[in-house]
Amino acid sequence: MQIDVLTLFPEMFDSPLSHSIVKRAIERKKLSLELIDFREFSQDKHKQVDDYPFGGAPGMVLKPEPIFEAVDFLKEKRKELLEKCEFPLIYLTPQGETYTQQIAEELSKKKYLAFLCGHYKDVDYRVREHLVTREISIGNYVLSGGELPAMIIIDSLARLQEGVLTNIESAYSDSFQGNTLDGPYYTRPREYRGYKVPDVLLSGNHKMIEEWQKSKRKEFTEKVKGAHDV
Ligand code: ADE
Repeated sequence: MQIDVLTLFPEMFDSPLSHSIVKRAIERKKLSLELIDFREFSQDKHKQVDDYPFGGAPGMVLKPEPIFEAVDFLKEKRKELLEKCEFPLIYLTPQGETYTQQIAEELSKKKYLAFLCGHYKDVDYRVREHLVTREISIGNYVLSGGELPAMIIIDSLARLQEGVLTNIESAYSDSFQGNTLDGPYYTRPREYRGYKVPDVLLSGNHKMIEEWQKSKRKEFTEKVKGAHDV
């Protein structure tokens, strides 16, 4: 999977993409990421990318030209991956549809995606009208830019790429997979500070263990019903 990210702050991505599962996905060539600083596409002599909103409103708006130019560059660069398909540009915004594991699964199957990280008040609406194909929010709160949401989504896509997780079972039993939350896990020692691992897990009775795990998943799901869309 190839993912391109249009951002004014490419350095923000350095650390999150160079650890753990995302790092492994990149090393195993299951995921390739390119960060495009769209300030470089500004025609302005000061490389300005934002301006005051027409009609007056607080805050600055990202100008359309650098974003349109950067997308033209990517359309040419990714010609073969696009195969005459529409350029898939996802804009991260609190106004978008709320991200879920279901959307993660859908997106993880794509060969190519581009993310646009906004900043300041918003992007010029013409970008959203004529370039953006999907708008995604990671939750009902406002962040200062689309970089963190993009990283969160990239992480969720990296771990769904085939051959990235060592034990694919662990992805299947994750929370939201099959619309329920995952249950509790315990490891050694059997007792710590007087806190004991539930007897059933040490019983060796697989049927009973399975039933217990199922009931715990149900209990966890019920507990947060309403807080999650499950
Ligand atoms: N940009 C700012 N806040 C956001 C959010 N909650 N989700 C996606 N993009 C954002």
